[in-house]
Amino acid sequence: MRNSAFVFLILLAVAVLLSAAAFASVNQNANSSTTERGQNANTSSPTNRSINDPSKAQSQPDFSKNTWELPADADKTKNPVPTSDESIAKGKELYLERTKGNCVFCHGETGAGNEANLPRLRRKPADISNKERMAALTDGELYWKISQGITGIMPAGEKRMSEEERWHVVNYIRTLAKEPAKP
Ligand code: HEC
Repeated sequence: MRNSAFVFLILLAVAVLLSAAAFASVNQNANSSTTERGQNANTSSPTNRSINDPSKAQSQPDFSKNTWELPADADKTKNPVPTSDESIAKGKELYLERTKGNCVFCHGETGAGNEANLPRLRRKPADISNKERMAALTDGELYWKISQGITGIMPAGEKRMSEEERWHVVNYIRTLAKEPAKP
């Protein structure tokens, strides 16, 4: 009789341990999905380093005021890669490729915004299919914006793409700008 009580206690202890382990893994999943919004944002930012620490999940830094921090003469940087069918094709590939630009995740295939992902984004992406808007930006400005991004809002392209690749992306997004609808 004493023996079976002992076995019962052991089983009870195992059950408690198992449910604790299950709870911990559920917790971890919940946690990583809350940070999904930042998935594309600056992966080395301190926020993402603390994804698995539940105590930090609540106190995310406020990204809402973050904006471009470009060199003063960003707009004067000249595009060294002449636009061509080849460059545009490379740029398109990078724009779509998850491990490279992954621009499509936020800006969508047309550049007007990825409706499906909108609810997961911290900020509504700029409409880079807007001809007037794009005409107001030099290649240099586009290049620097793509290279540096905005912390927590748009990833820094320089972390995943070479200089030349980023210029191909500039050449490609120029092709997304469509004439505004005629009245
Ligand atoms: C995580 C979402 C996200 C990803 C990924 C992303 N962007 Fe953005 N992008 C934004 C947001 C949000 C803005 C608007 C930022 C602002 O001005 O407040 C923006 C702005 C821009 C602008 C500036 C437009 C203007 O009028 O100033 C350009 C150009 C741009 N993105 C191109 C790209 C390209 C090219 C890629 C891929 C290499 C890319 N973005 C990837 C979210 C994203």
